[in-house]
Amino acid sequence: MKDRGSDFYDDQANFEKYMERRKWQENANDTLEKPVMLELIGDVAGKNILDLGCGDARFAAELLSREREGATYTGVEGSVNMIQAANKSVKGLNARIEQAFMEEWTYPAGAYDLVISRLAVHYIEDVESLFCNIYNTLKENGTFVFSVEHPVITSTLQPSGTRTDWVVDQYFVEGYREQQWLGGSVKKMHRSIESYFMALQRAGFRVEHLRESAPQRAYFVNEETYLRRQRIPLFLFLSARK
Ligand SMILES: C[S@@+](CC[C@H](N)C(=O)[O-])C[C@H]1O[C@@H](n2cnc3c(N)ncnc32)[C@H](O)[C@@H]1O
Repeated sequence: MKDRGSDFYDDQANFEKYMERRKWQENANDTLEKPVMLELIGDVAGKNILDLGCGDARFAAELLSREREGATYTGVEGSVNMIQAANKSVKGLNARIEQAFMEEWTYPAGAYDLVISRLAVHYIEDVESLFCNIYNTLKENGTFVFSVEHPVITSTLQPSGTRTDWVVDQYFVEGYREQQWLGGSVKKMHRSIESYFMALQRAGFRVEHLRESAPQRAYFVNEETYLRRQRIPLFLFLSARK
C-alpha cells in the first residue's frame, strides 16, 4: 500500500503526542499558523467551505460560529483517528466529514466558495492534479487558501528535539524527505516556493497573497518563544482565486 501523510496520525503514539502538542498554549499552529489563515480566509458568512486534511475539525466550530451564519463546512480527512475526533467536533454544526484521501476524493464541480487546507498539502506528491481538482470544485471567483510547512523547513534534515540551527540544502531538489517528528518518522514533500506558486498558476488560479509566518507579539506569552519564532519561517501560506 502507498504511504500516506495520514498514516502518521493513525499510529496511536504519534496521534496522542500530536494532540498533546496542540494543547500547549504557545503551539506553533495557534500562535503562527491560525492567525494568518484567519486573515487570508476573511468573512465566511454564507459560504460553502471545503477543508482538505481537516484533522480533528475543531476549526469548523470557529468558522461556523454565530457571526458567520449560513456557512456550511465539509472536511475531507484520511486518518481514522482524526475522523473519529472530527465527527465529535462537528456534532450539531452545519458540517459533515468525509473519510477520503484528498488525492482521490470525487470533487463536485463548481460546489464551493472557499477551499482551505491547513498543513496537509505538504504530504501530497502531485500538487498540480490536486490544485486542478480544487480549481474545478470552486465556484467562479471562489478562493483557495492553504498553509504548508515552509520549504526552508522541509529542505532541512530535522533531528528530534528543539533545534538551534537549520541547514538549508538541496533546496531545488524536490521530493519526499523523511523527518523525525514527535518521536515518530514522517515523510513530507519538499518543493520550492516557486514551485507551489507555479502549480497554482498552471491550474488556472490567480495568486493573490503569499505570506510567511512572521510572529506577532500579541500571540505569545513568553518573550523567549517569540524571539525564537523570529529566527526562521515555519509556515508558508498562499491564497489564490478562480
Ligand atoms: C498537521 S495535520 C493538520 C490538521 C488540521 N488541518 C489542522 O490544521 O488542525 C495534517 C492532517 O492532514 C491529514 N492528511 C495527510 N495526508 C492526507 C491525504 N492524502 N488525504 C487526506 N488527509 C490527509 C492528516 O491525517 C492530518 O489530519
